[in-house]
Parts: sequence; structure tokens; C-alpha cells
Amino acid sequence: MIKIAVFASGTGTNFDAILENINAGKLSAKLALMVCDKPMALVVEKAKKANIPSFVFDPKDYPSKAAYDQAILEQCHQHEVDLIILAGYMRIVSSVLLQAYPHRIINIHPSLLPAFKGKDAIKQAYDYGVKVMGVSVHYVNEDLDGGDIIAQKAFNCEGMNLDEAEKNIHAIEHQLYPQTIQKIIEELTI
Ligand code: GAR
Repeated sequence: MIKIAVFASGTGTNFDAILENINAGKLSAKLALMVCDKPMALVVEKAKKANIPSFVFDPKDYPSKAAYDQAILEQCHQHEVDLIILAGYMRIVSSVLLQAYPHRIINIHPSLLPAFKGKDAIKQAYDYGVKVMGVSVHYVNEDLDGGDIIAQKAFNCEGMNLDEAEKNIHAIEHQLYPQTIQKIIEELTI
């Protein structure tokens, strides 16, 4: 069984979706570790309730990004993590993790990449006046939201307000991410 770590910084609705898919037998993985850089984030409570081992840290407690990524790496090794899933993890991953997990770190981003990288992607796209919005799942490399795209799903957002567009994006994410992770796992285990 492939062991995954989910990295998150916030509400953790993608964390929920991944866990639900595992529990429903639709995602053949063990959620071995949850990593969070925000001790007060809701996802921390969720992982605790679900008895998922967690590594919660405050970046301010470390002298550098490399130092906390090294601490994360040690946790990943300890929990024998095969694949790292970024799910609303609002930090750039350093070479410490990228070199240890080449082509084994994936991210979900709420836009049709390469458009609207970075923070507040949904609002960026909405303010731009796009007619089509969507979600991307991609490999993580040293460029922000820049790695190879694995999956995308688009929808027509004409006439939607920002709230409706956000709800649509999240509903798509909660389906697309577990499905895409399952496909990657199947390829890894063939
Ligand atoms: C998701 O919409 C995810 O795509 C986005 O953060 C949200 C996290 O929601 N990620 C990024 O913007 C990464 N650049 P969640 O905590 O409820 O899963």
C-alpha cells in the first residue's frame, strides 16, 4: 500500500475529500502523515479527530526554509511516505524535499495553469473577467505552480458571482484530486 502525506495550511476540505475516498476504498493509499505550517488551522483538528499522525510546525521556530523542510523530510522518512500531496499548502517547497521526492510531490491549484499562479487564484481569474475557470493538478518543481500538468478540469463561469465560482472550483477539486492521485498511484505500482 502506497503511503501518502498530505500537506495543508487551512480548512482542509481537500484533506477531507482524500480521506473520504480512502475510507470508501476509492483511493488505494494509506494517509500516513499530515503536515501543517499553521498550528491554528482547522485541518489540524481534522487530522487529530481522524487519528492521522501529524507534524504541525511554526516556520518562525526554524532558522530557514531548508531547516523546516529537513524536519518535514525526517517525518516523511519516519512514516515511510512514498508520495507527497500538497492540498492548500501555502508554502514553496524547497530543494530539500524536491530532491528527496523527485516527481513524487503533487499540488492542486484553483486555476487553469499556467494562468493565475500564486495566491488568490480564483479572485485573480474572476477579476480578470475570464469566461472559463478551472482546476489544475501538477507536479511540483522549483517554480511556483510551474511543474508539469497532470490533470485539469474547466467549466464555463459566465454569469456566476465570485461565491458561486469558488463553490464550483472546490466541488471540482474534491473529485479531481482523489481521482488523479489514484491514477498516479496505479502508475507507480504497475
Ligand atoms: C484549495 O482551493 C487549493 O486549490 C488552494 O487552496 C485551497 C485549499 O482549500 N491552493 C492554492 O491556492 C495553492 N496555490 P482546503 O484547505 O479547503 O483544501
